[in-house]
Amino acid sequence: MSDIENKSVLVTGAAGCIGAWVVKKLLDQGAKPVVFDLTENRERLHLIMPHAADVVWEIGDITDYEQLCSVIKKHDVFAVIHLAALQVPYCKIDPIGSAKVNVLGTAHILEACRQHNIQRLAFASSIASPAMGDNDYLATLYGAHKVCGEQMAAVYWQDWQVPSVCIRPGVIYGPGRDRGMSAAPTVAMLAAFNAQSHIIPFSGPVAFVYVEDAADRFIGAVSREIEDAHVFDMQGTEADVADVVREIRRQIEGANIEIIGNPLPFPHAPDDGALNSFLGAKAYKSMKDGIAHTLETFERARVRGILTADMASKMIEQSS
Ligand SMILES: NC(=O)c1ccc[n+]([C@@H]2O[C@H](COP(=O)([O-])OP(=O)(O)OC[C@H]3O[C@@H](n4cnc5c(N)ncnc54)[C@H](O)[C@@H]3O)[C@@H](O)[C@H]2O)c1
Repeated sequence: MSDIENKSVLVTGAAGCIGAWVVKKLLDQGAKPVVFDLTENRERLHLIMPHAADVVWEIGDITDYEQLCSVIKKHDVFAVIHLAALQVPYCKIDPIGSAKVNVLGTAHILEACRQHNIQRLAFASSIASPAMGDNDYLATLYGAHKVCGEQMAAVYWQDWQVPSVCIRPGVIYGPGRDRGMSAAPTVAMLAAFNAQSHIIPFSGPVAFVYVEDAADRFIGAVSREIEDAHVFDMQGTEADVADVVREIRRQIEGANIEIIGNPLPFPHAPDDGALNSFLGAKAYKSMKDGIAHTLETFERARVRGILTADMASKMIEQSS
């Protein structure tokens, strides 16, 4: 029996890409996910699972501490997986919004765990965080605010023994990844599946993480008692965009995908294995298997009537 079976797990930002998979996998394991998100848009959940309409859902804003605490009390929350955030371009457009959601929101999560004695917390930082160091990568407000979350978590352990596992994902791909520039490889898979052409606006090596692998690791991090405030990179499977496109073309004959632009200005390296050893997790999916699994998921959604050609076209259009 899993440690979290029958326990409530609050998942912030679960209308998003990683969160939808976290919800699906928590249900598979017999846990009780509680979504906490600004929106009630269940499209990503519908895409990857049946019965998404039955998922327990609280519309809420992590910048509202009282609301967050009342949901924690209402559902007797045992563990928190904190994923809600604004992504790189939105932080640049709205710096104060970034500080509110990515810094204050994370402060609220840590404080709520302290006040409600929640001993299981996993949260997302990013490879944009190590990019803030003394190196040639791109410094971003998003990265600066993610660093702040990591450092707050360290102090919450030091001063109040609130344990946490912070995970820094590379570039997530797979069903549900449909927003932001780095979603382009997944959008190209959807376009090829839907017999449309697509342009990926960056080239070069990328630390790709299959979304289900990411979800498994966030769940693994709250499925055990831990001490300390840990920070792990999650670099998944390093691959060159050109190799990814070759593999899509191998799996879908005639896929029309173009690559333009420079490499992404964020760290990429073979995964150091530290997170997998900490969690006892199995290896990351290869790109070949990740692409195959993505296409199978699209096909299952098509059979269920969730992903018609028109819907796929709309998703592709909205992603850019
Ligand atoms: N997708 C990636 O490649 C990637 C890479 C590195 C790190 N991350 C991090 O992983 C986490 C999840 O990423 P994702 O791709 O699933 O994100 P996403 O953008 O798909 O989803 C984020 C969700 O957060 C919700 N949200 C935003 N502000 C909120 C608020 N104030 N209160 C409640 N909910 C709010 C949004 O409605 C959205 O559903 C984020 O913290 C992100 O920074 C993602």
